[in-house]
Amino acid sequence: MRLTLEVWRQTDPADTGRFETHVVDDATPEMSVVELLDRLNESLVEDGREPVAFESDCREGICGACGVTVDDRPHGPQPNTPSCHQRLSSWKDGETVRLEPLRSGAYPVVRDLVVDRSALDRIVQAGGHVAIQAGTAPDADTTPVDHALAEMALDFAACIGCGACVAACPNGAAHLFVGSKLTHLASLPGGREERGKRARAMIAEMEQDFGPCSSFGECADVCPAGIPLAAIAAVNRERMRVVLRGRND
Ligand code: FES
Repeated sequence: MRLTLEVWRQTDPADTGRFETHVVDDATPEMSVVELLDRLNESLVEDGREPVAFESDCREGICGACGVTVDDRPHGPQPNTPSCHQRLSSWKDGETVRLEPLRSGAYPVVRDLVVDRSALDRIVQAGGHVAIQAGTAPDADTTPVDHALAEMALDFAACIGCGACVAACPNGAAHLFVGSKLTHLASLPGGREERGKRARAMIAEMEQDFGPCSSFGECADVCPAGIPLAAIAAVNRERMRVVLRGRND
């Protein structure tokens, strides 16, 4: 199939950037958006031109590296699907695909389709570690965890940190991301230590770079891990818990 690509090119953060048009005429419906970029870069390199900078790693929907904006939507047209799994079967032969970086004030463009998502890393770092004296490794059944609770915690732990939720949000909010971390850590026995301190620090860091949540819901619609909107309520719940208790436990 033949696809026209409108690709964002930007040499560095100071560059204003522009769309460049290219044609890939040997794409197949089974290829992913990331593989389409591979194919484009092969031809650019063969022509002695600079390849398009973009990120990818696992290409299995696990690592969160590959987020780009495809036809004005983070990751692409298929809901809850990372860019590395967005198949070209979503487009017809002869159509145009528009590729640009994830757009958010918190994600400065580094080059072409690569953005700096370290603002998300700073939130995780603010959460710190669990400072408990664990001693020697306990028996696996020393601390029983209800199966339904464990499954729920794992559902929220599935966040891959791609940052698409922020790019999809008109406010640039990171509540889905932060709520997923707070929920899975607060749900399990080991993570209940320093629960309040963690929530206070992560929410304060979030408010440095990200906007407020107005419950639009676009975040959950693009999330490759299917993190539910309940994560947003978790941010408010953990915030209120800290306020009402007035302490950091
Ligand atoms: S490359 Fe890892 S999630 Fe897409």
